[in-house]
Amino acid sequence: MAKWYDFDYERRMRKDLSFWRACAEEGGDPVLELGAGTGRVTAHLARGGFTVTGVEISEKMLDRAHRRVARIRRPAGRIRLVHGDMAELEVRGRFRTVIVPFRAFHHLYTIDRQLAALRKIRQRLSPDGIAVFDLFRPDLAAFTEAENKLSVAYERRLPRSEERVVQRFRLSCDWSRQIAHIDYYWDVYRGSRRISRDHAPMRWRWFHRYEFEHLLARARLRAYRICGDFEGGPLTERCEEMIFFARRD
Ligand SMILES: C[S@@+](CC[C@H](N)C(=O)[O-])C[C@H]1O[C@@H](n2cnc3c(N)ncnc32)[C@H](O)[C@@H]1O
Repeated sequence: MAKWYDFDYERRMRKDLSFWRACAEEGGDPVLELGAGTGRVTAHLARGGFTVTGVEISEKMLDRAHRRVARIRRPAGRIRLVHGDMAELEVRGRFRTVIVPFRAFHHLYTIDRQLAALRKIRQRLSPDGIAVFDLFRPDLAAFTEAENKLSVAYERRLPRSEERVVQRFRLSCDWSRQIAHIDYYWDVYRGSRRISRDHAPMRWRWFHRYEFEHLLARARLRAYRICGDFEGGPLTERCEEMIFFARRD
């Protein structure tokens, strides 16, 4: 996943960067980002003058984040990248903004780990701080439609190359455990000949709206705003995102 992450999302996900910046402005400095990945959001916030601590569990993703951060000539804010698990958070200090962008929370598969992460977030949140979670809205009809089929996510030319990549995925759901298993495939073609295939299996634990509110409450956090997109629109049956803003209760 780390190898293809920036190619897959760098352009497609730009729309959320101004949203995360607005969150940091609303909550204030310093910012803690959980599931920092390749540093896409971390770097953007540091460029904007925020002091950001990014926590990431995958060493391969973190390596890429370090490389990205090293390329910023003079970041206006300070950046700290930490290898760690958000459910066993070891960072010190208090943060006025804690963010969990781009669905990272869906990688916590058990209630124990979800609650552990939320309780750690509460501990690290300053009394007037905000925590913002970007989850996806579970579209069960779409899951059913896509289940067990090999679907094409995109087809694009590789930069400065005649080769093109086709990303495919196959989804299967464990309906009673609310877990979507997805196999991603990246097939690289030269002309009509496939020259390589990468494969990454992935799991997402989906959440329903009130389930997540209850989880927050068990960790003594209170949702004060819920949006369905990065423009602050309401949560509706057509939204892809499910964004929670929470404070300490
Ligand atoms: C979809 S990526 C988001 C990366 C980045 N925040 C962005 O918006 O581009 C989710 C990231 O969460 C990380 N992750 C998953 N479980 C985690 C955990 N328990 N603690 C910290 N990071 C985790 C994954 O390795 C992955 O890099």
